[in-house]
Amino acid sequence: MDVEKCLSDEELKQEIERLKREKGAVILAHYYQRGPIQDIADHIGDSLALARYAATLKDARIIVLCGVHFMGETAKLLCPDKKVLVPDANAGCSLADSCPADAFEEFIRQHPDHIVVSYVNTSVGVKALTDVLVTSGNARKIIDRLPADAKIIFGPDRNLGGYINAQTGRQMVLWDGACHVHQQFSLPRILELKKEHPGAKVLVHPECPRPLTLAADCVGSTAALLDYARSSDAKEFIVATESGILHQMRKDCPDKTFIPAPPDDSTCACNDCSYMKLNTLRKLYECLRDETPEITIDPALAERARRPIDRMLSLS
Ligand code: 13P
Ligand code: SF4
Repeated sequence: MDVEKCLSDEELKQEIERLKREKGAVILAHYYQRGPIQDIADHIGDSLALARYAATLKDARIIVLCGVHFMGETAKLLCPDKKVLVPDANAGCSLADSCPADAFEEFIRQHPDHIVVSYVNTSVGVKALTDVLVTSGNARKIIDRLPADAKIIFGPDRNLGGYINAQTGRQMVLWDGACHVHQQFSLPRILELKKEHPGAKVLVHPECPRPLTLAADCVGSTAALLDYARSSDAKEFIVATESGILHQMRKDCPDKTFIPAPPDDSTCACNDCSYMKLNTLRKLYECLRDETPEITIDPALAERARRPIDRMLSLS
């Protein structure tokens, strides 16, 4: 019998803590991770906070990025000398997948003289074609800093790009990509829910379609939605983003009620990002134990892909 297969969650946590100390590892987790992974992480955050935090790590030998693949790649680009591990190498992102680098290159060719702004949810290949990277936490601020008459391509999220266009009055040319989780929330069902909970505030991630952002009390990154929930006087919140954020919201605000926004299809578990949820406590333990799967990036490509991240960090 494989004794390790029988480890309870509590034993897995103890083993993860031990391996972390022995190996000089730091665990970073996104807010969409399963609760036990968020709880054991050294640092949790939105994609901007995780990138910023990775950039400051000096003493760690290993970074375990509990999130999706592009987040591990961003950490590796910022920390090329460190070993960057992800619990499950198949944890991709439908939004990043909606923008293959060769097709994006052709799109750029069709729009000469445009500044290329990309969302962090992209492959290394797309980042290497990008002038400035943004996250949902700093997109508005960075776009505001570009010259008023600049022609801009924005990829890959048409919803975030459309939201920024509406906020800034810009007319960025948008790549037609979207996230399968944020695309599926139902505005009519949210409005019905609002009738049942008239005092509830509606929190919406900007990857959601435009009509949802118009019905929102707060539109923002996962960290911004969490901050809003913490500081608001309201007692109920309807949350239109991936379900993992509810863990931290409920933990930080035990006296408040968080209601997941309903999807179009009431029979699915659509509020879960199937990629984010591939990571489990057991896979985190195994990845620390075996030091695999490791993120590796071709050094020449990495050099080009790092530039738009450095620009983002200096602009935000
Ligand atoms: P944040 O930038 O809010 O962390 O969002 C990342 C993401 O993947 C949203 O789907
Ligand atoms: Fe990608 Fe959507 Fe999952 Fe975020 S929630 S990681 S954008 S698939």
